[in-house]
Amino acid sequence: MTIKKTRTAILVSGRGSNMQALVEAARAVDYPAEIVLVASNRPDAAGLEWARSQGLPTASIDHTRHATREAFEASLQQTLDAANVELVALAGFMRLMTPAFVESWRNRMINIHPSLLPSFKGLHTHERALAAGVKITGCTVHFVRAEMDDGPIIAQAAVPVLGGDTPALLAERVLAAEHRIYPVALRLVAAGLARCEGEKVSVSHDLKASLPLYSPNL
Ligand code: GAR
Repeated sequence: MTIKKTRTAILVSGRGSNMQALVEAARAVDYPAEIVLVASNRPDAAGLEWARSQGLPTASIDHTRHATREAFEASLQQTLDAANVELVALAGFMRLMTPAFVESWRNRMINIHPSLLPSFKGLHTHERALAAGVKITGCTVHFVRAEMDDGPIIAQAAVPVLGGDTPALLAERVLAAEHRIYPVALRLVAAGLARCEGEKVSVSHDLKASLPLYSPNL
Protein backbone atom coordinates (compact mmCIF):
# COMPACT_ATOMS: atom_id res chain seq x y z
CA MET A 1 0.00 0.00 0.00
CA THR A 2 1.39 3.43 -0.82
CA ILE A 3 0.87 6.10 1.81
CA LYS A 4 0.38 9.78 1.16
CA LYS A 5 3.58 11.53 2.16
CA THR A 6 3.63 15.07 3.50
CA ARG A 7 5.95 17.22 1.41
CA THR A 8 8.46 18.54 3.93
CA ALA A 9 11.26 21.11 3.75
CA ILE A 10 14.08 21.22 6.29
CA LEU A 11 15.72 24.57 7.04
CA VAL A 12 19.27 24.57 8.41
CA SER A 13 21.91 27.16 9.22
CA GLY A 14 24.86 24.96 10.13
CA ARG A 15 26.06 21.41 10.67
CA GLY A 16 22.66 19.82 10.03
CA SER A 17 22.92 16.71 12.16
CA ASN A 18 19.20 16.86 13.00
CA MET A 19 18.46 17.29 9.31
CA GLN A 20 20.47 14.13 8.65
CA ALA A 21 18.44 12.25 11.27
CA LEU A 22 15.21 13.35 9.57
CA VAL A 23 16.48 12.49 6.09
CA GLU A 24 17.60 9.02 7.23
CA ALA A 25 14.23 8.37 8.91
CA ALA A 26 12.32 9.54 5.85
CA ARG A 27 14.01 6.86 3.75
CA ALA A 28 11.70 4.24 5.28
CA VAL A 29 8.91 3.39 2.84
CA ASP A 30 6.24 3.81 5.50
CA TYR A 31 7.52 7.17 6.80
CA PRO A 32 4.73 9.75 6.33
CA ALA A 33 7.01 12.68 5.36
CA GLU A 34 9.03 13.09 2.20
CA ILE A 35 11.96 15.51 2.33
CA VAL A 36 11.49 17.53 -0.86
CA LEU A 37 13.86 20.40 -0.03
CA VAL A 38 16.74 21.34 2.24
CA ALA A 39 17.21 25.11 2.39
CA SER A 40 19.66 27.33 4.23
CA ASN A 41 20.14 31.03 4.89
CA ARG A 42 23.89 30.34 4.87
CA PRO A 43 25.41 29.29 1.55
CA ASP A 44 28.36 27.69 3.38
CA ALA A 45 26.24 25.59 5.78
CA ALA A 46 27.77 22.13 6.11
CA GLY A 47 24.26 20.67 6.22
CA LEU A 48 23.54 21.99 2.74
CA GLU A 49 26.65 20.30 1.40
CA TRP A 50 25.63 16.96 2.95
CA ALA A 51 22.11 17.26 1.50
CA ARG A 52 23.59 17.91 -1.94
CA SER A 53 25.80 14.85 -1.59
CA GLN A 54 22.64 12.80 -0.98
CA GLY A 55 21.06 14.09 -4.17
CA LEU A 56 18.39 16.04 -2.29
CA PRO A 57 17.01 19.27 -3.79
CA THR A 58 18.67 22.18 -1.99
CA ALA A 59 18.30 25.95 -1.93
CA SER A 60 20.63 28.57 -0.56
CA ILE A 61 18.92 31.83 0.29
CA ASP A 62 21.60 34.11 1.67
CA HIS A 63 19.98 36.42 4.21
CA THR A 64 22.88 38.90 3.91
CA ARG A 65 21.83 39.51 0.31
CA HIS A 66 18.35 40.62 1.33
CA ALA A 67 17.78 44.15 2.58
CA THR A 68 15.04 43.23 5.03
CA ARG A 69 13.74 40.24 6.94
CA GLU A 70 10.56 40.47 4.82
CA ALA A 71 12.54 40.34 1.56
CA PHE A 72 14.42 37.26 2.79
CA GLU A 73 11.18 35.58 3.78
CA ALA A 74 9.57 36.40 0.41
CA SER A 75 12.43 34.55 -1.32
CA LEU A 76 12.09 31.68 1.10
CA GLN A 77 8.33 31.51 0.57
CA GLN A 78 8.81 31.46 -3.20
CA THR A 79 11.25 28.56 -2.87
CA LEU A 80 8.89 26.65 -0.58
CA ASP A 81 5.96 27.26 -2.95
CA ALA A 82 7.97 26.13 -5.97
CA ALA A 83 8.59 22.81 -4.21
CA ASN A 84 4.93 22.51 -3.08
CA VAL A 85 6.04 22.28 0.53
CA GLU A 86 3.31 21.42 3.04
CA LEU A 87 5.37 21.23 6.24
CA VAL A 88 8.57 22.97 7.38
CA ALA A 89 11.01 21.48 9.90
CA LEU A 90 13.58 23.86 11.37
CA ALA A 91 16.79 22.02 12.25
CA GLY A 92 19.31 24.43 13.71
CA PHE A 93 17.86 27.27 11.65
CA MET A 94 19.23 30.28 13.51
CA ARG A 95 17.21 33.09 12.02
CA LEU A 96 14.28 34.78 13.72
CA MET A 97 11.20 34.95 11.54
CA THR A 98 8.60 37.72 11.39
CA PRO A 99 5.25 37.10 13.08
CA ALA A 100 3.55 37.32 9.66
CA PHE A 101 5.72 34.55 8.18
CA VAL A 102 5.32 32.37 11.26
CA GLU A 103 1.55 32.91 11.21
CA SER A 104 1.37 31.89 7.53
CA TRP A 105 2.91 28.52 8.54
CA ARG A 106 0.87 28.15 11.73
CA ASN A 107 0.84 24.49 12.84
CA ARG A 108 2.76 23.60 9.68
CA MET A 109 6.22 24.58 10.97
CA ILE A 110 8.10 22.72 13.71
CA ASN A 111 11.40 23.31 15.49
CA ILE A 112 13.82 21.47 17.77
CA HIS A 113 15.47 23.17 20.72
CA PRO A 114 18.10 21.70 23.07
CA SER A 115 16.33 22.23 26.39
CA LEU A 116 13.18 21.20 28.18
CA LEU A 117 11.09 24.18 27.09
CA PRO A 118 9.89 26.53 28.41
CA SER A 119 13.25 26.55 30.23
CA PHE A 120 16.37 27.96 28.58
CA LYS A 121 15.03 29.48 25.36
CA GLY A 122 17.58 31.12 23.09
CA LEU A 123 21.32 30.62 22.74
CA HIS A 124 23.97 29.08 25.01
CA THR A 125 21.38 26.66 26.37
CA HIS A 126 23.80 24.17 27.90
CA GLU A 127 25.98 26.83 29.54
CA ARG A 128 22.88 28.28 31.17
CA ALA A 129 21.55 24.87 32.25
CA LEU A 130 24.91 24.12 33.92
CA ALA A 131 25.02 27.58 35.52
CA ALA A 132 21.50 27.08 36.89
CA GLY A 133 22.52 23.72 38.35
CA VAL A 134 19.60 21.74 36.90
CA LYS A 135 19.98 17.99 37.30
CA ILE A 136 17.85 17.08 34.30
CA THR A 137 17.73 18.87 30.97
CA GLY A 138 16.75 17.64 27.52
CA CYS A 139 15.28 18.69 24.21
CA THR A 140 11.92 19.69 22.80
CA VAL A 141 10.18 19.57 19.42
CA HIS A 142 7.42 22.17 19.15
CA PHE A 143 5.19 23.98 16.69
CA VAL A 144 6.66 27.40 15.91
CA ARG A 145 5.09 30.58 17.24
CA ALA A 146 6.24 34.18 16.86
CA GLU A 147 8.24 34.21 20.10
CA MET A 148 11.65 32.55 19.89
CA ASP A 149 11.70 28.85 20.92
CA ASP A 150 8.06 29.06 21.87
CA GLY A 151 4.99 27.09 20.86
CA PRO A 152 2.91 23.98 21.53
CA ILE A 153 5.10 21.06 22.59
CA ILE A 154 4.99 17.92 20.45
CA ALA A 155 7.73 15.80 22.05
CA GLN A 156 10.41 16.04 24.70
CA ALA A 157 13.30 13.90 25.90
CA ALA A 158 14.86 14.21 29.36
CA VAL A 159 18.63 13.93 29.68
CA PRO A 160 20.55 13.85 33.00
CA VAL A 161 23.21 16.42 33.80
CA LEU A 162 26.27 14.59 35.13
CA GLY A 163 29.01 15.70 37.49
CA GLY A 164 31.95 17.03 35.51
CA ASP A 165 29.75 18.00 32.55
CA THR A 166 30.98 20.78 30.32
CA PRO A 167 28.66 22.54 27.87
CA ALA A 168 30.21 20.44 25.07
CA LEU A 169 29.71 17.12 26.89
CA LEU A 170 26.13 18.01 27.77
CA ALA A 171 25.43 19.20 24.23
CA GLU A 172 26.63 15.87 22.86
CA ARG A 173 24.36 13.88 25.21
CA VAL A 174 21.36 16.08 24.42
CA LEU A 175 22.09 15.95 20.68
CA ALA A 176 21.87 12.15 20.73
CA ALA A 177 18.37 12.52 22.22
CA GLU A 178 17.47 15.17 19.61
CA HIS A 179 18.33 12.72 16.86
CA ARG A 180 15.91 10.23 18.39
CA ILE A 181 12.92 12.45 19.09
CA TYR A 182 12.91 14.68 16.01
CA PRO A 183 12.16 11.85 13.55
CA VAL A 184 9.41 10.60 15.87
CA ALA A 185 7.88 14.07 16.22
CA LEU A 186 7.99 14.68 12.45
CA ARG A 187 6.36 11.29 11.91
CA LEU A 188 3.50 12.20 14.27
CA VAL A 189 2.93 15.62 12.70
CA ALA A 190 3.22 14.42 9.09
CA ALA A 191 0.79 11.58 9.76
CA GLY A 192 -1.68 13.97 11.40
CA LEU A 193 -1.30 12.20 14.75
CA ALA A 194 -0.08 15.28 16.64
CA ARG A 195 -2.60 18.08 16.48
CA CYS A 196 -2.80 21.48 18.10
CA GLU A 197 -5.81 21.93 20.31
CA GLY A 198 -5.58 25.51 21.46
CA GLU A 199 -1.95 25.91 22.42
CA LYS A 200 -1.46 22.29 23.48
CA VAL A 201 -0.72 19.29 21.31
CA SER A 202 -2.77 16.16 21.57
CA VAL A 203 -1.00 13.03 20.35
CA SER A 204 -2.99 10.04 19.08
CA HIS A 205 -0.29 7.50 19.47
CA ASP A 206 0.22 4.34 21.43
CA LEU A 207 1.98 6.14 24.27
CA LYS A 208 3.56 3.90 26.85
CA ALA A 209 4.70 5.59 30.02
CA SER A 210 8.41 5.05 30.43
CA LEU A 211 10.12 4.98 33.80
CA PRO A 212 10.86 8.32 35.42
CA LEU A 213 14.41 9.55 35.00
CA TYR A 214 16.04 10.19 38.37
CA SER A 215 19.16 12.29 38.79
CA PRO A 216 21.03 11.38 40.93
CA ASN A 217 20.03 7.74 40.54
CA LEU A 218 18.00 6.33 43.43
C1 GAR B 1 20.69 21.62 17.71
O1 GAR B 1 21.18 21.31 18.99
C2 GAR B 1 19.33 22.31 17.80
O2 GAR B 1 18.54 21.82 18.84
C3 GAR B 1 19.74 23.74 18.05
O3 GAR B 1 20.82 23.94 17.20
C4 GAR B 1 21.54 22.71 17.05
C5 GAR B 1 21.71 22.46 15.57
O4 GAR B 1 22.51 21.33 15.37
N1 GAR B 1 18.66 24.64 17.78
C6 GAR B 1 18.40 25.73 18.51
O5 GAR B 1 19.11 26.11 19.44
C7 GAR B 1 17.15 26.50 18.13
N2 GAR B 1 16.89 27.53 19.05
P1 GAR B 1 22.45 20.56 13.97
O6 GAR B 1 22.69 21.62 12.90
O7 GAR B 1 23.57 19.57 14.04
O8 GAR B 1 21.10 19.93 13.87
